[in-house]
Amino acid sequence: MDQMTLEEKVAQMCQYVAPNHIRDNVSKKGADKSMSGIDAIASDVLSSNDIARKIAAGEVGSCLHAFTVDEVNVLQSLAQRSRLKIPLLIGVDAIHGNGLHSGATIYPTAISIASSFNPELVKKSGRETAVEMRASGMHWAFNPNIEITRDPRWGRTGESFGEDPLLVTRLGVALIKGLQGDNGVEKDKVLACAKHMLGGGIPTGGINAAPAEMSEYSLRELYLPPFEAAVKEAKVFTVMPAHNEVNGIPCHANSYLLQTILRDEYGFDGFTISDWMDIERLVSMHRFAATEDEAFYLSVQAGVDMHMHGPNFLESIVKAVKEGRISEERINKAARKILEAKFLLGLFENPFVDVKKEGNKIFTPEHQQTALEAARQSIVLLKNENNILPLNSKSYKKIFITGPNANSQTILGDWAFLQPEENVVTVYKGIKDICKEAQIDSICFSTNITKMDPLLIDQAAEKAKEADLNIVVVGDNGLRYRSDRTNGENTDRDNLELPGRQQELLEKVYTSGKPTILILLSGRPLSLPWADQNIPAIVEGWESGSKGGQAIAEILFGEVNPSGKLPITFPQNVGQVQTFYNHKASQYSRRFALAKTGPLYSFGYGLSYTTYSYSEPVLAQNTIRKDGKTTVSFDVTNTGQREGTEIVQLYIQDEYASVTRPVKELKNFDRITLKPGETKKVSFDITPKELQFFGTEGKWIVEPGTFKIMVGGSSRDQDLKSTILTVN
Ligand code: GLC
Repeated sequence: MDQMTLEEKVAQMCQYVAPNHIRDNVSKKGADKSMSGIDAIASDVLSSNDIARKIAAGEVGSCLHAFTVDEVNVLQSLAQRSRLKIPLLIGVDAIHGNGLHSGATIYPTAISIASSFNPELVKKSGRETAVEMRASGMHWAFNPNIEITRDPRWGRTGESFGEDPLLVTRLGVALIKGLQGDNGVEKDKVLACAKHMLGGGIPTGGINAAPAEMSEYSLRELYLPPFEAAVKEAKVFTVMPAHNEVNGIPCHANSYLLQTILRDEYGFDGFTISDWMDIERLVSMHRFAATEDEAFYLSVQAGVDMHMHGPNFLESIVKAVKEGRISEERINKAARKILEAKFLLGLFENPFVDVKKEGNKIFTPEHQQTALEAARQSIVLLKNENNILPLNSKSYKKIFITGPNANSQTILGDWAFLQPEENVVTVYKGIKDICKEAQIDSICFSTNITKMDPLLIDQAAEKAKEADLNIVVVGDNGLRYRSDRTNGENTDRDNLELPGRQQELLEKVYTSGKPTILILLSGRPLSLPWADQNIPAIVEGWESGSKGGQAIAEILFGEVNPSGKLPITFPQNVGQVQTFYNHKASQYSRRFALAKTGPLYSFGYGLSYTTYSYSEPVLAQNTIRKDGKTTVSFDVTNTGQREGTEIVQLYIQDEYASVTRPVKELKNFDRITLKPGETKKVSFDITPKELQFFGTEGKWIVEPGTFKIMVGGSSRDQDLKSTILTVN
């Protein structure tokens, strides 16, 4: 630091997109050309030459969206031309695997893997993603998205772990530890990034970046816990503020969030990175700052340490320091943390990647197996009338598969660029692999999910009549390089029905009168009450990644028993939004006119090919002091004919309190595997942590009174058994 000029220190706070022109140069050496999407990025603000020159002049601390090892090595060699030869931090949106990199292992998206309620599995996917990132020369994952999502119109629902603070917190901590290591950043791993702080999952009106309004209670009890744990338990090294404002103050200029809470209260000891030109948006979008200089100043003073892409930041901040408006100590704090990250990651010793040595660490059999296991545990069986599932693969001579998601890379979801065909098992391929004797026919509409040819739909209806079994694979398209996207970043919707003519296809296939199975591949809850009424079996396959089709086929034909449970509520229709399980008692004191009031499918709900029974829960002590603790125990029995894994859930309600409390809150969960007829005892501790709430004095408190302790296989009242704990 002492060797560095003020400019060089501020340069560490500057991140730019990796210039496509460097990639063009590199592409002459035959680097991967299948990447797309970068051209639109680099050219819109700075010319690629500018960025290359800045790097060589020591004016850049980090780059993002470099997609090949060759390009990364070129960027690092440019940085070696600067006076102090400080290596670059290379960041990338590795959201469920290093998906912007061709050939990477693509794990299920966050909403998908959240259905596993399996932190260890999430951690493992993070650890493997870090291996594939470092093998590609990348050091920083802009992940996890630990926002609480209560509005499925939001396109980034699929990028979140859902609506519940405990589940989001546990999976966020797990993913950060997988990416960084168990106790801070390890040399061979990557930085994680807790994002976006906060409130993006409750955008007013459902559109990304819209204002979020919340009480101090909601802030403290719903939206902050994942960030608090990310800092205190997982030692996340970076945090990214959200696009939106919270209660009138844009997150990128919100010192209450970024300084008072994040640093002063939580002790955050890393650095923050702005989101994509969101500091400039303080002027253009929020009308919060009158000039760009003012926006840069307010952001840095509020606690933003690094600027993601765009001109003028360096010059503006240097000027503000020279004018005494920003202290050099503030710059030192930011630069020190950014340099510390580079030392922790070993970049000063070696910023380059030896592609010969590293290339075989990507898409390895072990990583593929993790992706397959994650897909198997992510899939949720929503309906199975008369146990039509599992299907017997030998019972059907003619199977007809149809739908725009049947044989398409849409199964990968957002933040995944085009992958080699041989790396992706679609539903069609998965079924063909299992049903080797059957004649399989298909019309897959794979090119455009929103514009399906009506003639083809009619042809599909005819084929459905001739088949013994129809499998309809519909839902969303989250692929950001396709123009027919229906979910994903900046792809918010004003309804939750099947996009385009998919519903028409489903109904026409159904009217064939032949058995029809519905597979949803979606990155958000879809509201399909007609399907729930008419289709005998419905599987939520989410965006289950490289091996999704294999896992879905294994579940359809009974090789795997589904275990997934919903991490987010499925509304009857968009008119019910916001609807979530942990609601206050007064939320449904009245009913809708002309419509059902309850959700289509509840948080924590998911079926199995076996059944489970729960005993009445028993408390070790029925009465405790308010600083005391007890344990709730209950037996779970597999009352069916085949082995299964049940996600047991503990919910608690503080029955009467000085601030209104939710009717139930998830306070623990676990996955237990049971053979047919087997019984296991499950015990969960109940401590002040499970009983407390954020009170009117602005402190976490446990109030004396009665608490309803509920255990079961979903958040639905009919699935829960309860007992009462008294706190003195
Ligand atoms: C986007 C997203 C953010 C992502 C960043 C870089 O705008 O909001 O999550 O990490 O830009 O791609």
